Amino acid sequence: MARNQIDRLNEVGRIVSSFNYIFDLSLLLEKILTSARVLTKCEAGTIYLLRGRKLIFAHSQNDYLDRMIDDPTELPYFNRNLEVDRRTLAGYVALEREILTINDTSSIDPMAPYQHFTGFDNESSYVCQAIMTLPLATAGNEPLGVLQLINPLGDDGLLTCFSDEDEQILSFYAGFAALAMEKSMTMSSAVIHNVEIVSSHDPLETRAHAMRVAALSTAIYERWSEKRAISEEERTHSMNLLPLAAMLHDVGKIYVPKSVLTKPARLDQKERTLMENHVLAGARMYADPFTPLDEITLKVILDHHERWDGQGYPGWVDLNTGHPLAGRAGEDGRIVGKKGQEISIFGRIVAVADVYDALSGRRYYKEAFDQALALQIMEQESGHHFDPEVVEAFLGVKSILNKIKNQYPDPPLEANSPLKTVKPTPSEI
Ligand SMILES: [Fe+2]
Ligand SMILES: [Fe+2]
Repeated sequence: MARNQIDRLNEVGRIVSSFNYIFDLSLLLEKILTSARVLTKCEAGTIYLLRGRKLIFAHSQNDYLDRMIDDPTELPYFNRNLEVDRRTLAGYVALEREILTINDTSSIDPMAPYQHFTGFDNESSYVCQAIMTLPLATAGNEPLGVLQLINPLGDDGLLTCFSDEDEQILSFYAGFAALAMEKSMTMSSAVIHNVEIVSSHDPLETRAHAMRVAALSTAIYERWSEKRAISEEERTHSMNLLPLAAMLHDVGKIYVPKSVLTKPARLDQKERTLMENHVLAGARMYADPFTPLDEITLKVILDHHERWDGQGYPGWVDLNTGHPLAGRAGEDGRIVGKKGQEISIFGRIVAVADVYDALSGRRYYKEAFDQALALQIMEQESGHHFDPEVVEAFLGVKSILNKIKNQYPDPPLEANSPLKTVKPTPSEI
């Protein structure tokens, strides 16, 4: 085996061993695609996930189009799916589970069972000339998706061809990548099913809200941790677990009566107490954490309704009794709210993502606010409700707010929906 190939295999081994520590599927897919592109020096690539009869564009990268387009929602493949069709390259590979390497898509044998679908090339004016398409399948050879690498570049930056060695190396790589995906998907699906259980109780709000809060919290953490120069190791650990933990922030709502969760009007004091109880109810589910994910989930659940100025809830409370935590009660013996940095950074971040999503989205008791008004309220609450540094990080990622909203839309309203159609004033939230 050539020295170069041994070096590349060692590099593959180093990359795939790092997959073991990534539980979050989007983070993992990003890492799989980025590393595959580095290994082959490709300009672009896509990972499709197989969902029933559809291939979903789960993650795409294109250095050329990124330079041309500011808004990622304008990319031709944004939020798109393909039917699993044997006549397309990705469909063929998903069904046949074999690698296809094509160095010139314009000269595919017309008698071949597959052809290159040029629709996206035409929409974006980006020509996919050389494409390597690899199956991502479990150890049991069940297809999870497809990895597609597009347009390898030579050292001179010009388009070149895939080699046989590229195919061998990537085949090896894709096998390990798929194993990591299977593990991550198993874990994510356990979390998502918990969110689904709560959503069955609260069908119009919880699922999409949980997904948006998770995506936004992760983006805010990324920006905040860059600014704070948090170590790479700690950042990776937190970025890995926070999306799943944030999805679970309202899991305690399963204990809130449905009549309260779906009331299309403001809650009275008794209902408000029942609603606020979702924090302690959820935290008790994680009161005895035995994994790092449990630990961060507990922090998120417990702290996401605390306020920077100490006026939030549930405050310093004993999870078992609901009474003030020993040694932390106020002078009058009452529960005291956590404030400032007493609130975990994960709670402070999810609080910002949660309130922004509540303001900018529809609720049973209100319509969505305009984004400009929602942003204005968030800025006004900096230093009051929210940690100013976290608000700064949130404003630093506002360009992705629409992308998140488009990716996880609320379900459509039914004709007889009890939702309000008037916009309340900010004080009515
Ligand atoms: Fe909540
Ligand atoms: Fe929430």
